[in-house]
Amino acid sequence: MIKPPMRPFQLERYFAKYEFKVRHLLSPSDCEALSLAELLDLADEITRQLWDNLRLAYTESAGHPLLRQEISQFYNQITAEQILVAAPEEAILLAMQAILHPGDHVISIFPAYQSLYEISRGLGCDLTFWQVQETQSGWKLDLNELEKLYRPQTRLLVVNFPHNPTGYHPTQEEFLTIIEFARHHHLYLFSDEMYRLLEYPPNQALPPAVDLYPLAISLSGLSKSFALPGLRIGWLVSQSTDVIEKCAILKDYTTICSSAPSEILAMIALRNHSAILRRNQKIILENLAIAKDFFNRHSQILYWIAPQAGSVALARWVGNLNFSTIYQQILEEKGLMLLPGSVFEIEDSYFRLGLGRLSFPLALEKLEEWIKTKNLLDFSS
Ligand SMILES: Cc1ncc(COP(=O)(O)O)c(C=O)c1O
Repeated sequence: MIKPPMRPFQLERYFAKYEFKVRHLLSPSDCEALSLAELLDLADEITRQLWDNLRLAYTESAGHPLLRQEISQFYNQITAEQILVAAPEEAILLAMQAILHPGDHVISIFPAYQSLYEISRGLGCDLTFWQVQETQSGWKLDLNELEKLYRPQTRLLVVNFPHNPTGYHPTQEEFLTIIEFARHHHLYLFSDEMYRLLEYPPNQALPPAVDLYPLAISLSGLSKSFALPGLRIGWLVSQSTDVIEKCAILKDYTTICSSAPSEILAMIALRNHSAILRRNQKIILENLAIAKDFFNRHSQILYWIAPQAGSVALARWVGNLNFSTIYQQILEEKGLMLLPGSVFEIEDSYFRLGLGRLSFPLALEKLEEWIKTKNLLDFSS
C-alpha cells in the first residue's frame, strides 16, 4: 500500500525509545489517563449491562451502532452512517488513502503531527506546507498565503485545530475563511480535531469542519481531550458517505473492526463527556498557571507562547546552546524527557510542552533543577 518515501514517524520513534524508560515526561500531548475503575464508575445502567455482558467477539466494522449514535450527537450534520470508528492514527491513514492519488497536490499545516502530511508524501503526492508562524503577538497562520499555495492539482487541505505542537487556535472567522478557500476550489478538507473541546474558555470551540462543509472529513477521538488514549478509539466523520465508505473498505486491511471492550468504554466516556472534559480542562488550566510562572522566572533563557487551546505548547531556548546534546543531557542527568523540535522538523531550540498530565509540575521542577545546575553563561549567545 504505502511505499517509501514515507519516512519513519520521528515523534513516535522518539517516544518509543524513551517514554516508558524515563522517570519524568514534560511533553506528552494527552491528558492524564482515566483508570478503568474511574471510567466504569461513570457507567449508567445501559452501559454497565453492555459491559457486564460483553462477549469478546469481532464487532461491527464501522463501529458499534450505539457508539456511532453517541458520536453523532457531537455533530449537527452527521448521522451514524457517516461515521467510521477507527484508532485515530489508523483513521489518518485510511482517509489519506481514500482521498488521494499519486500526483495530487496536498497543502498541509506545518509543523504538524507527521502522519498528517507524511502519508500523502508516501502516496506519491506533491506536498506544500502552510506554516504556522511565530510573531510578536503569538502563533499565526497567514490566510492570504493559502491562495498562493493553491495549484490546479490541489486536492486536499490538511488542518489541525487546536494545533499540535504550537497550541495555536484560529478565530471562528479565520476558520470560516479557511473553509471558504476549500469550498471555492472544491478541495477536500481534512480537519484533525483531536484536541477539540479543550478550549479555554470552552465556548471558544470551533464548530466541527464537517458541520460547515460537505467535503470536510473531521478526525476526532478519545486519546487527547477525553484522556483515554489506551482505548485506541477515534472516528472519521464526513457528510460525504462516499469517503466514509472508501475508508471502511480500507479498514478491512488494517484492523477490520475496533476492540470490543474499548467500544463500550468509549460509549461510557461519551455519555459523560462534560464531566471528563471539565476534569481535563481543570488540569490544563492549573498547569498553565504553573508554566506561566516558570517562564517568567526563566525569561533570560526560555521563551514560550502560551497556548490558545489544547494540551500542548511550544517553548524555545533563548541563546546559543548546544542543541545536539542538551536533550540527552537532561535525560541522563534528570531522567526527564523533552520532545525536541527536530521530531517536528523544526529547530531543536524548540521543545514541546504537554500540559494535560498531573505530573507536569514535577517534570517542570526537574527542568528547573537542571537549569539551576548550569551556569547562566552556558546559556548566553
Ligand atoms: C494532531 C494529532 N492527530 C492524531 C493523533 C493520533 O492519535 P493516536 O495517537 O491516539 O492514534 C495525534 C497523537 O498525538 C495527534 O497529536
